[in-house]
Amino acid sequence: VTAPDLAGRHVVVSAGGTREPLDPVRFLGNRSSGKQGYALARTAAARGARVTLVSANAALPAPAGVDVVPVGTAVELREAVLAALPDADAVVMAAAVADFRPASYATGKIKKKDGQEPEPLALVRNPDILAEISADRPRPGQVVVGFAAETDDVLANGRAKLKRKGCDLLVVNEVGERKTFGAEENEAVVLGADGTETPVPRGPKEVLAETVWDLVARRLV
Ligand code: PMT
Repeated sequence: VTAPDLAGRHVVVSAGGTREPLDPVRFLGNRSSGKQGYALARTAAARGARVTLVSANAALPAPAGVDVVPVGTAVELREAVLAALPDADAVVMAAAVADFRPASYATGKIKKKDGQEPEPLALVRNPDILAEISADRPRPGQVVVGFAAETDDVLANGRAKLKRKGCDLLVVNEVGERKTFGAEENEAVVLGADGTETPVPRGPKEVLAETVWDLVARRLV
């Protein structure tokens, strides 16, 4: 039986991967399935929390008792997270958010022109939601958790990202075409802004989720 140590708390979780449209039929996306974020939402609800799950393009059933807010793009994800944030005790950003989006959207399908090279794709920066909510917390004492998806120098990149983003905890996991994305299992190190490092061995995504909530619960005032 799970201890209801998050009873009376409101937590916000983002899950899935954003899609940045190019034209009515194409987008720039990533390989996130939403499984890690959904595991976080399910386990928080089981521990008694009220959960807002901001879900980007995940083809997964809504967890029981969780308030799901579907979004498509990074800009929409930011709006939904900021809207849920004012009375939240903690926020966990497990979504894979596009750093860049196409600079323009073509209202009709982009066509190939015979004998012509394709146009280069111009991109613009998306807002960094995790950095923004870490720097500007609507409620004092709010606990902010990020994830870092890395392919190389996982821990060194994770430590640098923790400093850059300014969150309280950063869950560092290794990703690849067939690693972590869409898998049932994950393995990670949770870095704390206080210098703590908590390794979580390979296991179901729920196990990592429970460890994240243990670390969050300890930091809630
Ligand atoms: O969904 P699954 O298939 O289960 O896979 C899980 C996962 C690999 C997607 C998940 O465990 C994970 O690592 N999520 C974060 C992916 C990511 O975007 O990492 P990042 O290193 O690019 O970003 C770092 C952090 O900043 C993340 O918390 C991200 O949500 C946030 N971010 C990133 C860019 C941006 N513009 N705004 C953000 O808030």
